[in-house]
Order: sequence, then structure tokens, then C-alpha cells
Amino acid sequence: MYAEQFQKSLKAVEEAREANIAYEPARMTAKEKEDLLAAYHPDYKQDEFEVLQIGPNKGDKVPKELAEMLQAHSRITSGEVDLTNPTYDVDVLIIGGGGAGTSAAIEAHEAGANVMIVTKLRMGDANTMMAEGGIQAADKPNDSPAIHYIDAFGGGHYAAKPELLYKLVNDAPEAIQWLNKLGVEFDKMPDGTMVTTHGGGTSRKRMHACKDYSGAEIMRTLRDEVLNRQIPVVDFTSAIELILDENGKAAGAVLLNMETGDLMVAKAKTVIIATGGAGRMHYQGFPTSNHYGATADGLVLGYRAGAKLLYAETLQYHPTGAAFPEQIFGALVTEKVRSLGAKLVNREGKVFMHPLETRDVSAASIIRECTTRENGVDTGAGLGVWLDTPMIEKIGGEGTIEKRIPAMMRMFGKYGIDIRKEPILVYPTLHYQNGGLDIAQNGMTTQVENLYVAGEAVGGIHGRNRLMGNSLLDIIVFGRNAGQNAAAKAKETTVGALTLSHIDAFDKERAEAGIETDAISPKLLPDYRRSVTELDK
Ligand code: FUM
Repeated sequence: MYAEQFQKSLKAVEEAREANIAYEPARMTAKEKEDLLAAYHPDYKQDEFEVLQIGPNKGDKVPKELAEMLQAHSRITSGEVDLTNPTYDVDVLIIGGGGAGTSAAIEAHEAGANVMIVTKLRMGDANTMMAEGGIQAADKPNDSPAIHYIDAFGGGHYAAKPELLYKLVNDAPEAIQWLNKLGVEFDKMPDGTMVTTHGGGTSRKRMHACKDYSGAEIMRTLRDEVLNRQIPVVDFTSAIELILDENGKAAGAVLLNMETGDLMVAKAKTVIIATGGAGRMHYQGFPTSNHYGATADGLVLGYRAGAKLLYAETLQYHPTGAAFPEQIFGALVTEKVRSLGAKLVNREGKVFMHPLETRDVSAASIIRECTTRENGVDTGAGLGVWLDTPMIEKIGGEGTIEKRIPAMMRMFGKYGIDIRKEPILVYPTLHYQNGGLDIAQNGMTTQVENLYVAGEAVGGIHGRNRLMGNSLLDIIVFGRNAGQNAAAKAKETTVGALTLSHIDAFDKERAEAGIETDAISPKLLPDYRRSVTELDK
């Protein structure tokens, strides 16, 4: 139920609804997209970025907030930790308990490795859990991995590492079967075939979903599997520094017990970083759809130990974050809402873009509509455009929303908004880290031997923009891949003497570059405390 201030605009949306359903907005040309992105996409705001002065990506630009973390001091000094008596000694150490980490753990365990997960919150407190819309795989007769590749390569501005994207799309059908066998309850037709829909930028319907809580269902299943296999999980414990051995190979991590503050050492033959994304860095002040622990920790750990980043300057702003009510500001409104037929309309009730352009283009379009075109709706706390959800019931029939996107219905229903009858207000929200650590096809970083990466901490799988549903896919494909390869590599690895000398080397580089900073990293958790002065206001 919307207050008086929205009524005029709502009336315009309602009156235009039938005509808007019939209206097929044109797709933008490549040139129009390019110009739009350059003018409105946050990645193109030059003054929000900083050039790195030290480390493997010296000379590259990254968001200011990330630059501060990458060039910061370690939480420890090299001499502070006794490396001779590790608390844990395993074959494969996995840092992160989300979809990528758990997939890696299952496969490493399957391969016979002694594997352990360490996670700063609990297993499943991860962006995987928050994922809604689905997971892509070309497994229908009218589709193929080659078509999937073309869609994703174009959507990512032709910047994906070909060998990574090749693996992603080719392993996708088997990944769905793996999840299905583990027990994921995918949406299916009465004859057992999977229901698939479009996402932005897909030329075939290849989005497999579990209603609109696909990630939660996948995470539930992976977590159960880890528990059933009795794989050790050390929770509420952060990895705060990688440990290398005397030969420069990854050989473990220094762990911080988040409750007691105690430090521990985990020695390992191979290490997998699966720490997820960076939404809680709130780049450019954006709200986020990400979970509480998404603070780019893996990028910092890897970078300080010598691993290179790829495309760390590109972020994904999901076009449809909730803009109203304030309590859910920035929460994800799945792209599936648009796949099911809802269109984006402005304050005047006018459709201003094709609803399934790629995400970067859609986000930039909404920002343009709200800023220079001044066609946004004032929510009281910001601006937004309407996502006309009642269209879904008109197109798909009564009951479609409850059946296909019940989580959306519940999320807005809590605040008295019945999305079957009323549209919702949306604005871009920080959703995904397109860039991350640079890996080879086997999942190992290109610079640090025995250091593997999987999931959102990887850069280069998607290029400079990711299509919906390719992230749930990459955590499975590259999580499993990292688990298998790290387990195999562990078998042939003998760990040399452990060292933290890379911290000293990094400190030296910082001092020589003349960087003065009090910042320490990794960040671990966001800080939402307000200062005393602020509270006094
Ligand atoms: O819109 C969504 O449901 C998000 C999916 C994704 O990021 O892959």
C-alpha cells in the first residue's frame, strides 16, 4: 500500500499497463549502449578509482575503497606468529564456506584429500545463499554450449578469458546434473524436464531455477553434503594472511578466531580462496544485495602474497535493487521478475528500455532515467523507477507470481505491498565483483603456485559484465574444478619451511612508494557504527 505521494505516478503506471504489455521496446544499438555506459555506468566515473602504486597490479586502477585495502597493512607482523607448530595440518585448506568453497570441499574429499573449510561466519553465510533467479546451462535441444558462450562473451564485452568461459559453458549441463543428483529441487514440468527461462542477454531459455530462491536451495544441498561427509568446518574464523613456504608456494593461512581474537596456523599442501564478493565495500556509496561478509578479503590475501588481479575495476550494479521501502533498500529484486514479463517504467508510466538488456546497460539506463532525464520517482530516501510486477499475472495468468517468485511476493508483502496488484520501486544496487584473482583453467592463480581460487573471487570468467545465472554456475563449475585440481596437486606436494616474509616485502614496497596509511586489511566485516558526533545529531 503506497502513501499519497506515489498515487499520481501509480495511476499513470496503471493506466498505461495494457498498452505497455503490448509494447515491444527496441533493443539498443552497440553504439547507443557504449555511449550510455560511458555517461552513466558507475564503472566509468574516473574520480571514483585510484591507481595502485604497489603489488602485482601496480599501475592498474581499482575502486578507491579497494585500493585502500589492497595497499593496507597486514593485521599481523611476520614475527608475531609461531609457524612451527600449526593448529591444523591438512592437504587442502579452503577459505570460504559459500557455494564455491563447499563445492570444492566435496570434490577434494571425493578425491581422497584431507580437506578443511575455514569460514569467518557460518557455512552458507554467502552470496550463494542470497542468489535468486537461477543458474544457466545449455541443456535443451535448441541450445548448445557454443550459443551459451557467444551470449556470455558478448555480454561481458568480449573480455572473458576464453579458456575459462569455455570451461564454464561446457561443464554447465553436467553441473546441473550433479546438483540434481545431490538433491537440489529444480523447478520441473510434470514430465520431469526442467523449466527454463530467459535472463538478460540470453538468446535461449537456459535459466534453471528453484522458484526465486535458487541460491538458498543450492546452498542447502551443498551444506548438507559437506555435513554428511563430515568434512571439518572451522566457523567464525577468518583467514587473515596467507602463508607461503620457502619456495614461494601457498602453504596455509593464519587464522583469527572472530570471537576470542586468538591466532592459529593452518598448514596445507594447497589452498583454495573462495571468499566471495565485495558488496559490503559499498563502492561509490551504493547499497548492496550482498551478504554481511562480502568485503573482498580473498583479493587482499591473494594480492599481498603476489597473485595478480584481473578486471578488478569492473563491478556489477544489479539494475533492480529495492528502492522502497527503506528497510529493504538495496535488496535484490531478481531479474526473473523481468524474465516473467514485468517491464521497467518511469514516473510517467512510460517504458524506457527493453527489460532484458544486459545488466550494465539496464543499470545505466535506470540511472539516466532518474538523473538527467528526471523521470524517476522520489521515494523520500532517493530515486527509483517502477518495475510493473502486475504485468506478470496478466501475461502468465493468475497465480504466476506466487508460484514462480514467492520470495519477492513475501519480501514486499511484509511491508504491505502486494506485488501482484502494485508495481515496485527499484534502483541499481551493488551486486557482483566482475573482477578478481587471475587463474588458469585448472583454477590455480597465474602467479602463486598451489594457490587456487574459485567463485566470485576469480576474475576473468565473465569479462567485464556477467550475465544472470552465470555466477551460480561458476561457483559450481570452478568450485568443483579447484577442489579436484587442488586435491591432485596436494598429492605431489611436499611443503617447505613456512614463512610470512611476503608481509615484510609488501611493507617495504609500500614504504618505498611513499604510501602513508593506517588502514589494515582484510576488512573482514563492514563497519556500520556511527560516530558519537553523528549519534548526537
Ligand atoms: O537477478 C538475479 O536473480 C540475480 C542473479 C545473478 O546474479 O546471477
